[in-house]
Amino acid sequence: VQKWHLLYEGKAKKVYVTNEDNVLWIEYKDQATAFNGEKKAAIAGKGRLNNEITSLLFSKLHQAGINNHFIKKVSETEQLVKKVKIIPLEVVVRNVVAGSLAKRIGLDEGTPLDKPLVEFYYKNDDLGDPLLLEDHIAILKLASPEQVSYLKQAALKVNDILVSLFQACHIKLVDFKLEFGFDSEGTILLADEISPDTCRLWDIHTNEKFDKDVFRRDLGDLTEAYERLLQRLGGSVECT
Ligand code: C5P
Repeated sequence: VQKWHLLYEGKAKKVYVTNEDNVLWIEYKDQATAFNGEKKAAIAGKGRLNNEITSLLFSKLHQAGINNHFIKKVSETEQLVKKVKIIPLEVVVRNVVAGSLAKRIGLDEGTPLDKPLVEFYYKNDDLGDPLLLEDHIAILKLASPEQVSYLKQAALKVNDILVSLFQACHIKLVDFKLEFGFDSEGTILLADEISPDTCRLWDIHTNEKFDKDVFRRDLGDLTEAYERLLQRLGGSVECT
């Protein structure tokens, strides 16, 4: 597969078209952003770590039967994925109260939830990614009720798999964000990334943080936190 021209540059990734119709070439950047881009920094090593971690997690999810866009890792900071048309929804799953949920409903950060909570947010920078009810999703025609229910079930399945995977590394999966898209045949695939940029991950015993809150809240060295997470997950994935 050949890397061709740049299609899109986001906050953390660059997306290139390739010589193959339905294959995109993703490059993870050494850049961290938070608060809708208001806080921004260049962080050496972050692109490599997120590429490694997301490759590892998507491979595990594939093995567990979750349809996803990941094809293979092609370099330290790059991977190939299937082209999808992204549904402009952020599907957030939470096991423990943190972040915007703590603010919204006033429970303390760290409070465990009796069962996982699935929320939908509108991927829209101008609106600041607002929380959506299923009726809002219908009004905006972002997805049909059947698709919404599929997304919810898929997100819960991903949660089950990731909770066990992280538990085995003595890490608590507090919450995370997923994105889905339609492939060329109209099938819904899990897409985007699953990395410490898009999850909250705490040490089971000490609550030490291995995620982007280290950057958001200035808790220490982000690269070091992500490196420690990758080590716990068993280290790097081979390029094939
Ligand atoms: O900020 P909030 O508490 O709603 O975030 C919930 C989870 O979704 C966190 O793990 C966060 O990293 C992730 N998230 C994300 N991208 C966003 C918003 C949230 O990856 N735009």
